[in-house]
Amino acid sequence: MCEHAGPGATIVSVTASNPGTNGPRPDPRPADPRLADSAFLKAARGERPQHTPVWFMRQAGRALPEYLKIREGVPMLDSCMNADMITEITLQPVRRYGVDAAIFYSDIVLPLKPLGLDLEIKPGVGPVFANPVRTLADVEAIPDLTPEHLPFITQAVQNLVAELGSINGGTPLIGFAGAPFTVASYLVEGGPSKEYAKTKALMFGAPDVWDALMRKIAGISATFLEVQVAAGASAVQLFDSWAGAVTPSDYATYVRPYSSTVLARAGALGVPRIHFGVNSAMLLDQMGEAGADVVGVDWRTPLAYGIDKIGPERAVQGNLDPTLVFAPTDVMLERAGAVIEAGKRAKGHIFNLGHGVIPSTDPDQLKRLTEFVQAYPV
Ligand code: CP3
Repeated sequence: MCEHAGPGATIVSVTASNPGTNGPRPDPRPADPRLADSAFLKAARGERPQHTPVWFMRQAGRALPEYLKIREGVPMLDSCMNADMITEITLQPVRRYGVDAAIFYSDIVLPLKPLGLDLEIKPGVGPVFANPVRTLADVEAIPDLTPEHLPFITQAVQNLVAELGSINGGTPLIGFAGAPFTVASYLVEGGPSKEYAKTKALMFGAPDVWDALMRKIAGISATFLEVQVAAGASAVQLFDSWAGAVTPSDYATYVRPYSSTVLARAGALGVPRIHFGVNSAMLLDQMGEAGADVVGVDWRTPLAYGIDKIGPERAVQGNLDPTLVFAPTDVMLERAGAVIEAGKRAKGHIFNLGHGVIPSTDPDQLKRLTEFVQAYPV
């Protein structure tokens, strides 16, 4: 299995005519023939799928007993740097739920670990950096990421693509990265934050340092995506989970240009790009224009409103309130039906929760939800 080159491995070519944000898109990467009928890829491209595709953000991990078992005694970052563990954990929810896409098991801060930063993921807390980044010298001390830093990622994606090709007639793999703002928030604060005060103080008070930091992270996140696509991932998602912390005009000035850089580099690879943030109602138009094919809508935003804001050029993803899985099944399914109905007006609709799976979620509810969405008339 390990020597099997993923279908993307031989055909990705990043040419000198990288279109950036101006030129024409290159021909899409020749698809793995086993994925030709993928409902997920069809919806992401704005084509009509046979059923509404469904996957769940954070489907790998947290809520699954088989995940908790395999992680026993293994620190989070160790699990993310072990190709066999990544492969198994990514496959677990696909086997259990029969979702229309797998999402690569990793974390948005993972690429900073092989670069040598003092990073820990503390249980119940999240990513913690011992030496927060606050000055130009701090930024310049961060090396650039190269594919050689990530052999375990390439290996895991190749393993996964080989396995996923024969699950449910071919299940695509979504690669992902953190967008520059959200990754910067962890680097500058030194850990999770509510107000992002230090991050925004740097953004407003030292725009040159901010620019250097955001360029640095954009390069790292783009390379992280390129490695995943080169190894065979069929689509990518750029998580800007905390972008909703800034106003639309500050987003345009301080955030969007750097997300655009990442999305342009991913676009040069010819795979569909999903762009998602939380509390993003005011930003959805710009998140699409930054260079996405699909815009994720968080659960607070009515999907119909999101579709209007995103416009007819792009597909949408979302957005059932993740707490509805704790409601009686009939209530959950009725609300899921309303989300699907609202999504019919979009260029394409990928069903998802409006943020990640909550750790105490009952996996059986997600299984019922998956089956309901896939059986719902399109
Ligand atoms: O929670 C779990 O699923 C267990 C494994 C785990 C992940 N990240 C997987 C992950 C753990 C413990 C983390 C640490 C972490 N990193 C946290 C949560 C800390 C906690 O105890 O709840 C957070 C908030 C981060 C930072 C982070 N990672 C963000 C903001 C995002 C974007 C998605 C989001 O939730 O907004 C990630 C991505 C991430 N972390 C993924 C996975 C499997 C990939 C995306 C996906 O599967 O949908």
